[in-house]
Order: sequence, then structure tokens, then C-alpha cells
Amino acid sequence: MSYKIGCIPGDGIGPEVVREARKVLDAVGKKYGHEFIYTEIDMGGCSIDKYGEPLTDEAIEKAKASDAVLMGSIGGNTSTSPWYKLPPEKRPEAGLLKIRKSLGLFANLRPSYLYEELKDACPLRAEVADAGFDMLIMRELTGGLYFGERYTKEIDGVMTAVDTLSYNENEIRRIAVKAFEIAGKRRKKVISIDKANVLDSSRLWRKVVNEVAGDYPDIELEHMLVDNAAMQLVKNPAPFDVVLTENMFGDILSDEAAEISGSIGMLSSASLNETKFGLYEPSGGSAPDIAGKNIANPIATILSAAMMLRFTFDLDKEADAIENAVREVLKAGIRTGDIMSDGCRKVSTSEMGDEIAGRV
Ligand code: IPM
Ligand code: MG
Repeated sequence: MSYKIGCIPGDGIGPEVVREARKVLDAVGKKYGHEFIYTEIDMGGCSIDKYGEPLTDEAIEKAKASDAVLMGSIGGNTSTSPWYKLPPEKRPEAGLLKIRKSLGLFANLRPSYLYEELKDACPLRAEVADAGFDMLIMRELTGGLYFGERYTKEIDGVMTAVDTLSYNENEIRRIAVKAFEIAGKRRKKVISIDKANVLDSSRLWRKVVNEVAGDYPDIELEHMLVDNAAMQLVKNPAPFDVVLTENMFGDILSDEAAEISGSIGMLSSASLNETKFGLYEPSGGSAPDIAGKNIANPIATILSAAMMLRFTFDLDKEADAIENAVREVLKAGIRTGDIMSDGCRKVSTSEMGDEIAGRV
């Protein structure tokens, strides 16, 4: 079979990590007899430099014409890069939000798993790390504060900035259904996170999630306030299975969940719509400070490619092959700098890609 993959290398470490993911995909193609055809798509700062905007209509069309999109990262140093002197809707991040919205990618899946081999890199106390954890954050991606009305203006002589947090019941229901469906294939537990003691949007969230739960009697549902969830994640992450939450809370909690897994360089992600289409990207950022040095960890992007094989192409065996190759590389003590520990062998971005591709 042949598969059309749109590739968005983006900015910072993006091109380096996407290159390694393609290397691993090509190894999979060779072994299992698939052809992956890549189309490069510009997005983020590199698109601003070329076209004056972070995502052109042509780029969206190219993404739509692909079976799936593999992305690196976008953006630069927000204090020093000239991109951040532009109006907000012209900055790199606006491209990412636009592609999420244009393609209807409302469900963002961010798995966080503590590999046995990375326990030393886990910043939590040894007894907490020893218990391990395996969670999937299901973040709503096209609603909430990210997409509500916003403005900054003088009101009664005082500069005022407004961001609007709004959710309707349909937006909540469709993401809740995704969470319960996937929980059925895991440990059958959903923890829904909100701030229902303060926010109206959270009270509606809780009500709709309870309604959806009624259709899934074999799945356990717990509600947790977001401040408590942030605390429980570092105190006792083991009980978390599927974590269902709105856009902003999911942005924050997924970085926290990534960090406790040893490094944000380990966390893959999939952004899905109602069809099989998906955009797959590491959860981490563009890390401009280490860009171009061949030292970034490509594992999150490589695992995102595995998610693409599993969710969009239904190639489970091939996805397993990538995930097992990653596990073997970690077992063999091969590490990029961010997850390095005593007695391990430190490798570059491209060497890590070679090691994983060689074990597929
Ligand atoms: C993420 C990122 C983005 C977000 C930024 C780059 C706009 O932090 O994917 O988590 O906030 O969604
Ligand atoms: Mg984020």
C-alpha cells in the first residue's frame, strides 16, 4: 500500500526530529512493504519568512490532500525572535491553531508512560517512580480559551484584555465520547478534569460528561478539580488512566505529565477529527536554544509516527514494531542528553534515529 503523508518540519528542532521519524517510517516501509510518500508543508516561522504568514491556504490544501500529517514543532524564542514583534495572528503559533481549527482536529491524545529504563530520569521520588504510570491525556483542542473572542482595548481609560472561555454541549460531548471509547481499550477509567467550583463552562462540562458516562456503564468515571489534578499528578500518578480535559487545562497538564515521564522529548501526540485523518506531533516545543545542534531527542516524534500508523492507517503491527524498537533502544542504554543517566551511552539526534530504525 502507499500512504500520503504531509510533513511539516517547522522551526527550531522540528526539521531534525521529523527527519529521524521519516527515517524510522522508511525502515518500516521497507520491512513491511509499504510506500510512504511525503509532501513538505510550510508552517510557523519558516512560513512567515517565506510568505509573510504562518500558514497559507495552499499549505492547508496540501494538508487536506494528505492521508495524515506529521509535524515537528513551530515557533522561536518569544523574547528575541522577530516573529514575536508581529501582530498575534501573524505569529508562528497562529499557524498551528489555524491548522487545528481548519481540519477540525478536536481530539488531542497525549500518552504519558514511564518506561522502566527511564525511572532515573523521572523527577519524582523513587517510591513514586517505582509505582510507574501509564496515562492518556485526552485534550479538547478546538474550543475554549484558545478560540474564544479576545481583544485588548481601553475601557473607561483603563487598558483591558479579554479572553473568552466558552464551550457548548456538543463540543464537550464529542470529546467525552472519544475519551470513553478509548478507555474501553485501556484500564476502563476516565478522570475528567475541570474547575466546576468556579467556572460555568466547567459545570456544563461535568454535566455533559456525566450524561455520556451513562452510555458506558463498564467505565469508571471520576471528576477532579484541575488544581488538585496538578498536585495528584506529581504526588501519585499511578491511578491516572484516561484524563479528559478542556483545551487550556490540557495544555498545562500535558507538559506536567510529559516531564514526569523523564523528558518532554518522550511525549508523542495525535490530533484527530471525526474521520481517520490526524495530525501527529511531539508534545514538546521547538527548543530554539538547541536547534541545529543534532542533540534533540527525536523519540516523541518517532512515537507520534507510530501513533499515525495505528490511528490513521490501521497498521498496528507496524506501530508495535516502532514502539518495541524504542523500548529496545532504551533497554540498550542508548540516550540523548535530556534522558542521559550514569552508565548509558549518549547519542545525537541522528544516531538515535539510526538506532531505532535499525531495530524496527
Ligand atoms: C501545545 C503547544 C501549543 C498549545 C502552542 C505552541 C500554541 O503548547 O501543542 O501544547 O498551546 O496548544
Ligand atoms: Mg503546550
